[in-house]
Amino acid sequence: MDTGLSEKHVIVTGASGGIGLEVTRMLLTEGARVTGTYNRSAKPLDDVKKDWPEQLRVVKVDQTSEEEVRMLFEEANRSFGRVDVLVANAGIATHEGKAIQEMTLEQWEKTLRVNLTGTFLCSKYFFANLEKFSGDTASLILVGSTAGYFGEAWYVDYSTSKSAMHGMMMSLKNEIVHLAPKGRVNLVNPGWTMTSMAEEALTDKDMTRRILQTIPMRKTAVPEDIAGAILYLASDKLAGHVSGQTITVAGGMEGRVLFTQEEIDSAEG
Ligand SMILES: NC(=O)c1ccc[n+]([C@@H]2O[C@H](COP(=O)([O-])OP(=O)(O)OC[C@H]3O[C@@H](n4cnc5c(N)ncnc54)[C@H](OP(=O)(O)O)[C@@H]3O)[C@@H](O)[C@H]2O)c1
Repeated sequence: MDTGLSEKHVIVTGASGGIGLEVTRMLLTEGARVTGTYNRSAKPLDDVKKDWPEQLRVVKVDQTSEEEVRMLFEEANRSFGRVDVLVANAGIATHEGKAIQEMTLEQWEKTLRVNLTGTFLCSKYFFANLEKFSGDTASLILVGSTAGYFGEAWYVDYSTSKSAMHGMMMSLKNEIVHLAPKGRVNLVNPGWTMTSMAEEALTDKDMTRRILQTIPMRKTAVPEDIAGAILYLASDKLAGHVSGQTITVAGGMEGRVLFTQEEIDSAEG
């Protein structure tokens, strides 16, 4: 099947992470030109760089810095021209949960700065690039989380940063068409996915049991599951009339298990 992605230039932020790396690999396989970003180490991208030396550029970006994001788009435009698709995937979550009364302002601001402000900055320069280079189509894919929908006790910083992706999508889908008449903005909400971000939780047996109790398919995701949905939304051939939509990739997850049976029994005491 022709996805049409071989004609596209895509920026994938957080390409060195679990989900971003798989998105990058799939896009390269489809023939897309990809500018992939990392923040601390480019090492995870070594193999794909070896396999697709002409199609892939790797750029170091801390997306909390407006100057670095501006330079990312400058470099991407210089290498491969107009950026047609942005996969705003980079993000952080602290491993250790904290009740809100224990959460420092520093932690709250750091998470919001990377996940929300960083996505704002990348989207801003993506749109500026659409203003500079005319074209009919464009696609922005935001990456949220089921935590932004169901909430996540002890991670209010993370869940708040991810629920904001909905507002961003609903606003920007109405702005993008003024720059690219067939431009689209959509949101992918992954559920629990085996990457370095979730590894600690997903290797904890009790935690995994609680997670699987909420998922009809009784399994967590692998990066390919999320990347497939992103690839679909990136393609104008497959998703050319889809905008303002959320695809949740979470095996049908419903809500959260809040208490164990023992906790309920002891409260009834
Ligand atoms: N895994 C899950 O269970 C899950 C569930 C729901 C949603 N998500 C979302 O999916 C997206 C990808 O997560 P993942 O699981 O692939 O996590 P990951 O493996 O930890 O990858 C995160 C990526 O973000 C980059 N990054 C971190 N801080 C950055 C910054 N300040 N500036 C630019 N890039 C930065 C990292 O770069 P370096 O490694 O080089 O620092 C890395 O490439 C995130 O938005 C995450 O919130 C994940």
